[in-house]
Amino acid sequence: MERAALLGMAGLLPRMVSARKAVSYHQNQIHALPVVISTWRHGIPSNVAAMKVLEKGGSVLDAVEQGVRVPEGDPANHSVGLGGFPDRDGHVTLDASIMGPDGNAGSVCFLEGIVHPISVARKVMEETPHVMLSGDGALQFALQKGFKKTDLLTPAAKQKWQQWRQKHKYHPEINWENKPNEYHDTIGMLALDKNGDMAGACTTSGLAFKLHGRVGDSPIIGAGLYVDNAVGGATSTGMGELVMKTVGSFLVTELMRQGRSPQQACEEAVLRIVEKIPDNKNFQVGYLAMNKQGETGAYSLRKGFNYALYRDKQNRLLDARSYYTF
Ligand code: GLY
Repeated sequence: MERAALLGMAGLLPRMVSARKAVSYHQNQIHALPVVISTWRHGIPSNVAAMKVLEKGGSVLDAVEQGVRVPEGDPANHSVGLGGFPDRDGHVTLDASIMGPDGNAGSVCFLEGIVHPISVARKVMEETPHVMLSGDGALQFALQKGFKKTDLLTPAAKQKWQQWRQKHKYHPEINWENKPNEYHDTIGMLALDKNGDMAGACTTSGLAFKLHGRVGDSPIIGAGLYVDNAVGGATSTGMGELVMKTVGSFLVTELMRQGRSPQQACEEAVLRIVEKIPDNKNFQVGYLAMNKQGETGAYSLRKGFNYALYRDKQNRLLDARSYYTF
């Protein structure tokens, strides 16, 4: 790839592109596929796991599943899987969704007691005629498929919940998810393999200390995640209610279908939130998008959203631009 990049800079780009399918344009450079992009700092190790699958020739669906399983299994991560902060009644309830290049989709929501909801979502997609299973039904299905029931409420998460209960407040903070080593939000991931096929995954324990029964955007196909292998895909993080009300990831993908770049599409979807939900001052939303050429976009409502982009053998943490400068 380094050789390809040098040739591109030397003005030989068009010939390289016609000679190699697995090369795409990005900001006037060429990049080799595969590409993996995911939300927040926890995207860095997640991208590594996904890229490992792709480099070994594994499927793009395996890549996104393995990628997001990293934060799901990390008890130090308090917004995904094991160790996630509970709802205000002390239950850790998980939401996850997955989409493959064939347009198939699976999801679980309000699922308790399973460390890897993304893998249950994949089983829903591949082994049932349904798209979404919820709550006890999702748990029953997972147990039938051999998943083990685990107590997801770690001592550290329980302590935070007890502190929160003492204050009796219900005010989600802006970017609470981005406090280093303490909180992170949803992981949403998009991967494009060397053949240009895309898959996506999204998984979360949702908003900390939410009302019992609350489900966010992450398991809602078209809200927290959407992939159309003819166009590209998008995923979201932040306050799921704002994303659901604007069907964010589907909107971003459809805007790309109409010709917007991934960056333009993310910006327009954030603008839609600003226009339709003006009372947004306490909330953050971040979008990531990627098109079939491997171009990527990232944009958020407020400052502080970062993401991990693994391409051209580099896995980097980048800051997204935002609508508001605060
Ligand atoms: N974006 C995660 C949630 O709102 O649950």
